[in-house]
Amino acid sequence: MSSHGPARPLTAKRSGPLKGEAHVPGDKSISHRSLILGALSVGTTEITGLLEGQDVLDTAKAMRAFGATVTRSDDGVWTVQGVGVGGFAEPENVIDCGNSGTGVRLIMGAMSTSPITATFTGDASLNGRPMGRITDPISLFGAQSYGRQGGRLPMTIVGAAEPVPVRYAVPMPSAQVKSAVLFAGLNAPGQTVVIEKEATRDHTERMLTGFGAQVSAEETSEGRVITLHGQPELKPQTIAVPRDPSSAAFPVAAALIVEGSDVLVPNIGLNPTRAGLFTTLREMGADLTFENERLEGGEPVADLRVRFSTLKGIEVPPERAPSMIDEYPILSVVAANAEGKTVMRGVKELRVKESDRIDAMARGLEACGVTIEEDEDTLIVHGMGPGGVPGGATTEARLDHRIAMSFLCLGMAAKNPVKVDDVGPIATSFPIFETLMGDLGAQFQRDNA
Ligand code: S3P
Repeated sequence: MSSHGPARPLTAKRSGPLKGEAHVPGDKSISHRSLILGALSVGTTEITGLLEGQDVLDTAKAMRAFGATVTRSDDGVWTVQGVGVGGFAEPENVIDCGNSGTGVRLIMGAMSTSPITATFTGDASLNGRPMGRITDPISLFGAQSYGRQGGRLPMTIVGAAEPVPVRYAVPMPSAQVKSAVLFAGLNAPGQTVVIEKEATRDHTERMLTGFGAQVSAEETSEGRVITLHGQPELKPQTIAVPRDPSSAAFPVAAALIVEGSDVLVPNIGLNPTRAGLFTTLREMGADLTFENERLEGGEPVADLRVRFSTLKGIEVPPERAPSMIDEYPILSVVAANAEGKTVMRGVKELRVKESDRIDAMARGLEACGVTIEEDEDTLIVHGMGPGGVPGGATTEARLDHRIAMSFLCLGMAAKNPVKVDDVGPIATSFPIFETLMGDLGAQFQRDNA
């Protein structure tokens, strides 16, 4: 990982048509949850299609530190022998979650209602991100936390010895916070209730049900009210992780903006709480179709067929933000290649991701000749039409995988090459990105190559 090694720059050049099939890795959100829920079950969970990116590998390591046995067979099947709800052991060492906000927040939730103490840390990006959104609700269960100023990692959590159930309205749209509270609620007696004003990704609720917990969700005037019955015995599962729509977003977007492209991206999870980008791209005029639509392991899945398209800028409805929150960086690249302006409002959560994604995209796009307007909660990109972005700049990845991949896609369609200062972080979610895009026809150049 680049955060622990030297920066690895990479330049993307205007590329010929992208053609072929793009087999993207497994879903990151579902991969983290598979390992954690497997560790909280009694028996052996088997997982195929797990994302073997650094974020998820760090969660696997953490689950071992809490007492689960996690192994991988030579043919890529992962097994987790769980310790049961309330069975976490106290880790002997600091838990390093690397770059992963999802990993650390979900694990903090899961351990916070057991009588154990654990210290968490991460890379420079993760240690700068707010953890108060987790320590606030877990303190209601009875856990204590001792972190750096501003609620930052490194942080020690002392789990509640006698947890009480909680009713908690999540103050921001965040599946990580919702999931941390539900995972904490697993080892509290009685009913834990989480209320979210806007629906966020619902993998935790679906998977808890799959693992045998009693969870219900109800739409009310307050929002979505999720009720969990505490202290279940979770039953081990066999999980086939669908491929990640947030990773599919990159070959899909690149094909839309690189002239003459025609790409198939098979087996993509299309859970409605994740698929907002594809709706938005179609509204912009994308030639994007879903083939072979089906259900797999309770999640809707389809093959995405995408062809180069002349796109128009649109106003993205703010209420769609939770279903495409990780896709705004790559959408802003698509928007730069559309005609007219694209307005993205209600996106201030982007400021507390792996980087401040509004600032990272605005500065990099500006360096490449694109006009941007922004405020705390808004990003507006003035499109330059297909292939119209001048490029010819070096952009900063800021330890953020999605920023790095977005600027490489920009370079594939720009008039002049676009360099990314460090592509190391891409390994957190999409370790095969360079090869996969190269096989489709993307032209990359390493320094001194
Ligand atoms: C995730 C939730 C989102 C998303 C992240 C994965 C999850 O974060 O950005 O990449 O797996 O629950 P927030 O909950 O902070 O919005």
